[in-house]
Amino acid sequence: MRIAVPTETAANEDRVAVSPETVKKLGALGAEVVIQAGAGVASGVPDSEFAAAGAKIEPTAAATLAAADIVLAVRRPAAAALAGVSKGAAVISIMDPYGADLALQELANTGVSAFAMELMPRITRAQVMDVLSSQANLAGYRAVIDAAAEYGRALPMMMTAAGTVPAAKIFIMGVGVAGLQAIATARRMGAIVTATDVRPATKEQVESLGAKFLAVEDEEFQQAQTAGGYAKEMSSEYQAKQAALTAAHIAKQDIVISTALIPGRPAPRLISAEMVKSMRPGSIIVDLAVERGGNCELARPGEVAVTDNGVKIVGHLNVAGRLAATASSLYARNLLAFVDTLIDKESKTFAPKWDDELVKATLLTKDGAVVHPSFPPKT
Ligand code: NAI
Repeated sequence: MRIAVPTETAANEDRVAVSPETVKKLGALGAEVVIQAGAGVASGVPDSEFAAAGAKIEPTAAATLAAADIVLAVRRPAAAALAGVSKGAAVISIMDPYGADLALQELANTGVSAFAMELMPRITRAQVMDVLSSQANLAGYRAVIDAAAEYGRALPMMMTAAGTVPAAKIFIMGVGVAGLQAIATARRMGAIVTATDVRPATKEQVESLGAKFLAVEDEEFQQAQTAGGYAKEMSSEYQAKQAALTAAHIAKQDIVISTALIPGRPAPRLISAEMVKSMRPGSIIVDLAVERGGNCELARPGEVAVTDNGVKIVGHLNVAGRLAATASSLYARNLLAFVDTLIDKESKTFAPKWDDELVKATLLTKDGAVVHPSFPPKT
């Protein structure tokens, strides 16, 4: 059984899908792990460390992928890059499948079984495979670090002989995995933290981290969480009430970090140009939702923009990837845990159980077709 790890080709992608630790463990499961030369360099892992863990290093993507049973990647590989991969091989990565119908069909045409790690159900058994959590947690942490680096002032209150420096006020919008870590990080750094969300369950979580909760807590708010634990798209009436409540608050903040997302939908617009205008010069907005359309009207993907009134809007892409070494080591463990369920321990072969709920939830393509119920063929 051969597991291939090609070098990531997307811009801004410094992560790698295996770590020396997981290479060793995949070896113990009976796999020969083949890694493209240089695949780990941007994550701080030289080829020699992978080789010492038992991997074979190949100079090109084609040589790496040849005769692979399983391909592990961070991002969805382009179909063209999979030439030479056997039909029926598994390709496992973050697939970013929404709005990518053509790319999914092309992937299906190669004959591989493509698995989307971000579709892993959030059940106890699969927690160790939850890439959304492992990466969002780091993004939430990094968002605070990025904000602090851009901010021209200190975050904690400091009482010095030369006078007292006030603590920074930080507002976190969206309190999922990233938002909770952003709250914890901002608190550790001494900021005064407030947070908002539309899911009632977040109120207690925010308060347990020592931050103050602010939200429109009407009837719609009480119903805003889906059975899957995610937020619903809110009505325009709710959005107007939410904007009225948060506008005055945002005007008084030094830093706003927004993380609000709705699965499969564009990110909700929470910070208008008007709100940005109301902030003091030197204030910072970090928009973690920028890849999904942005929570802030003025955020630009991949840019740090400065407005006329001196507010910096940080729109870094792939924020977890800005901590590539840590992000890779956790992502690699997520993958290892899933791959472990796809291997027959007796025969040490790739043998997915097609009726397993983890397989059914993540399998996008099989035998030449897109098979996931969320992506039905267009007629
Ligand atoms: P997410 O990344 O989809 O969204 C981030 C946050 O934005 C969410 O808290 C959401 O409620 C909020 N949001 C959406 N629209 C908003 C709006 N208009 N205004 C303000 N906030 C808005 O969420 P994430 O981080 O994936 O977490 C979703 C849920 O899944 C949470 O309940 C989390 O605790 C749960 N979860 C469960 C796990 C498990 O059981 N294995 C693992 C990880 C998370």
